Amino acid sequence: MFKLYKLWGVFKVNELAINGGEKTINVPGPHFVWAEITEKTEKAVLKQLHESISIYDKSGIIEKLENRFSKYHKLKHSVLFNSGTSAIHAMFIAAGLGKGDEIICPAYTFHATISPIFFTGAVPVLADCLDSGNINPEEIKKKITSKTKAIIVTHMWGNPCEMNEICKIAKGNNLLLLEDCSHAHFAKFEGKLVGTFGDMSAYSLQGQKTLTGGEGGIFMTNLDKFYYKSLLFGHYNKRCKTEIPKNYSLPKFSVTGMGLKLRIHPLAAAIANEQFDKMKDVIKNRKIIAEKLINGLKNLPGIKIPKISKKSNPTWYAFMMQYNSSELGGLPIEKFYEALIAEGCIELDRPGSTRPLNLHELFQNPSDLFSNYSGKLNYKKGDFPNAEKFHSNSLKLPVWHKKEDLKLVNLYLKAFKKVTNYYSQKCKEVLRNGKYE
Ligand SMILES: Cc1ncc(COP(=O)(O)O)c(C=O)c1O
Repeated sequence: MFKLYKLWGVFKVNELAINGGEKTINVPGPHFVWAEITEKTEKAVLKQLHESISIYDKSGIIEKLENRFSKYHKLKHSVLFNSGTSAIHAMFIAAGLGKGDEIICPAYTFHATISPIFFTGAVPVLADCLDSGNINPEEIKKKITSKTKAIIVTHMWGNPCEMNEICKIAKGNNLLLLEDCSHAHFAKFEGKLVGTFGDMSAYSLQGQKTLTGGEGGIFMTNLDKFYYKSLLFGHYNKRCKTEIPKNYSLPKFSVTGMGLKLRIHPLAAAIANEQFDKMKDVIKNRKIIAEKLINGLKNLPGIKIPKISKKSNPTWYAFMMQYNSSELGGLPIEKFYEALIAEGCIELDRPGSTRPLNLHELFQNPSDLFSNYSGKLNYKKGDFPNAEKFHSNSLKLPVWHKKEDLKLVNLYLKAFKKVTNYYSQKCKEVLRNGKYE
C-alpha cells in the first residue's frame, strides 16, 4: 500500500499541468516588473515637475542627461528625442539618405530600426542573420552595390554584433555605419561600448528598455555635422539658434528646422536620469541571473541557450533561446510553449512584433503608403531563411535583476526541467507510434 502511494506521488509530480498535473509555479503574477520605480524616482519626477515641464534648449535635465550619456560613451554629442524611432529617423536624415540610395539593414530586428527610412525615399536592403540573430557580416558584403550609402545594425536582445568585421566592411567600402542600440545599452564588444563603433547611434528609452524614461530616445555622434542636422530635424528654434554656429551653412533654417518637433518630455528625461544611477547594479545582477539561466538550461533537450561570442559582454536585455523540436521528437513549439505557460512560466514569450522584416506588409508593399517606392520592394516570405528560422524557434525570458528573484528563477528552471523531461520520455513513445496528436 505504501509503495502504491509513493508511486502515485511520483506520477502526480511528473504529470504536466497542461494535462491536469500539479502546476510548478503558483506565485501570482506579474513575475517580472520593469522599470523599478522607487521613492527616488518619485522624488526626481516631483523635483522636475516644479522645475520645468517644457525645455526648449540644451539646459536643465536635458543637458544633464545628454552630457551624462556623452561622457559615459566618450562621444562628443548626445541628443534626446521623444522616442527611439525618432532618434533612428534623425540618423537617416543626418546621413543625408535620399531617393536612389540604399542602406543595408538586418532582416531580423524590430521594424523601427529601419522603417523611418521610408520617409527619405532610400531603399532598405535586408541582410540575413547569423545563428545568434545578429546581422551576418558575410550577407552585408553580398548586398553592397554602387548605390549603397550606409549600413545599420541592431545588437539584438542586448548581444553585440560582430563589430570588427562590420567596421572593416563599412570602412573598406566608404559606407556610413549606424547602430541601433535599443536592446543593448552599455553592452560591450571587445571592451568597447556599443554605440561608439559607428558614425551615429540611437537608443530607445521606452518602458521595457534597460535605461528607460517611460518613452524617449537618444541619438549620439562624434561629428558636428551630424549633430547639427539632428537638431534641425527634431529640435527647431531655440536649440538650433543657440547651438549651430553662425559661420555654418545651416543656421538660416534654425527657426523652422525641418518642421518637426520631437523633443523628449522633461519628466521622461528626469526618470531616465534617475534610472541611470542604478544601471551598474542592475547590469551586475542581470549577469548573475543570466549565468544561472545558462547553467540551468544548457543541457536540456529542445533548448539552445543564447549564442554569445567570447568577444562580447552583453547586458541581457532579454534571454533569447532557440527551440529545437527535433530533440523532442518533433513536438511543435506551440505545444512546448503552452505546456510551460500551464506550469506557470507566465513571463515566457514568443516575440511577435520583432520579426523578419520581409514578413511585414510595409516591406512588401510600401508603395501603398509611400509613393516613392512604386515597384522597388517586393520582399516576401522565404527570402531570409535564417531570420525566419530564428524567429519561429524563439522563446524569450526576461532577465531578472534582483537577488530576491533567484527563487522565481529556480522555479522557472524547475518547470523547464519538468516539461523537457516529460517530452523526452514521450518522445520515445512517439518514435514507436508515430506523431504527437
Ligand atoms: C531594436 C529596436 N529599435 C527601435 C525601437 C523603437 O524604439 P521606441 O519604441 O522608443 O520608438 C525599438 C523598440 O522596441 C527596438 O526594440
